[in-house]
Amino acid sequence: MLSRQVKMQITLPLLMSVGTAVIGSLQFGYNIGVINAPQKIIEKFINETYFERYKDPISKTSLTAIWSISVSIFSVGGIFGSFSVGFFVNRLGRRNSMLMANILAFIAAALMGFSKMASSWELLIISRFIIGLYSGLSTGFVPMYIGEVSPTALRGALGTLHQLGIVVGILIAQVVLKKLRGMTDVSADMQEMKEESRQMMREKKLSQQLSGINAVFYYSTRIFEKAGVKQPVYATIGTGVVNTAFTVVSMFVVERAGRRTLHLLGLMGMAGSAIMMTIALALLEQIKWMSYLSIVAIFAFVAFFEMGPGPIPWFITAELFSQGPRPSAIAVAGFSNWTANFIIALGFQYVEELCGPYVFIIFTVLLLVFFIFTYFKVPETRGRTFDDIATGFRQTASAGAEKHSPEELNSLGADSQL
Ligand code: GLC
Repeated sequence: MLSRQVKMQITLPLLMSVGTAVIGSLQFGYNIGVINAPQKIIEKFINETYFERYKDPISKTSLTAIWSISVSIFSVGGIFGSFSVGFFVNRLGRRNSMLMANILAFIAAALMGFSKMASSWELLIISRFIIGLYSGLSTGFVPMYIGEVSPTALRGALGTLHQLGIVVGILIAQVVLKKLRGMTDVSADMQEMKEESRQMMREKKLSQQLSGINAVFYYSTRIFEKAGVKQPVYATIGTGVVNTAFTVVSMFVVERAGRRTLHLLGLMGMAGSAIMMTIALALLEQIKWMSYLSIVAIFAFVAFFEMGPGPIPWFITAELFSQGPRPSAIAVAGFSNWTANFIIALGFQYVEELCGPYVFIIFTVLLLVFFIFTYFKVPETRGRTFDDIATGFRQTASAGAEKHSPEELNSLGADSQL
């Protein structure tokens, strides 16, 4: 039950502001999910266009290359967009920056719409880049804005709405499509960021992307196909449904269970699911029902992701930094996130061809490393004011070699726990 005090803090203007901001998250999610299910249709379009132009069928290598670029160029746009966040918010403010970014969404949609008519996969690639720019900007603007307008006791729950926007966007894309800086100088702010908080935010963003989650959201149709699933598109829609359901679960428990516990639980659960996936893929030849186990494994992988590693990295960066360096911190964090996103988007297909059924072992190892890091390094931020969190870092930094444990850092915030 929500306490009365917390309920009183949920006002209509707050909900309207947060609700409007997450439209940006929805767009981002939509464009992650939009490319997965129609892989075959887009490949056919590239094939036909190539033949029209060169009167020759396209080679398998060129087709894979054009397809992988169409998927991954989105993250290149995201890298540039996320890095320009500080530039925009410091000049235009949070709200106007969000408004301005919408121009990019319109341009991208127009180009994407025309690509078929113009028989041009180049237009498709350019539009994916522009919508990536937009998404990179949004993944900075939205969590920052929500973190700043939310009362402390609701920051985690409302922060999770960004992720909820993303996952609903992914789901819409999966079901619709069944048929078918200017560089800001960040050096001064970088000095203001304490080494520890910097390390933590990087880890969080990397753990989110290098967990392998987007191997699923970009390529699940293909993964399910390889696992012998008869209707891979329906299994893909299933991942979207599980994804959305568990983001809602996380939203309701994050203020009670805390960020640290949920993140740890999520990472460990994902590692277990990745092992299950490896077993399913490895034994597929001998045991037919392993294809069902692969569906269970992917669903569990996604569910554990949304318990913690999905929503938390987005809002914890806004929590770990005070207002001055916050835009730059979010830009740097976004940059790490999008770069890792790009590596997975471009590289997964190739690594998968190389490692076969054992590809998920790479993610298992990474997930265990992230678990250990989080366990030893990440403090709880639930219920603590921005000031209190910053004080915690200052104290650890000044303690020098004499290190505080995460539990000690937690207790620094005990006074402000609700
Ligand atoms: C997170 C990730 C995004 C991923 C999504 C899946 O928002 O940043 O890359 O696709 O979760 O739900």
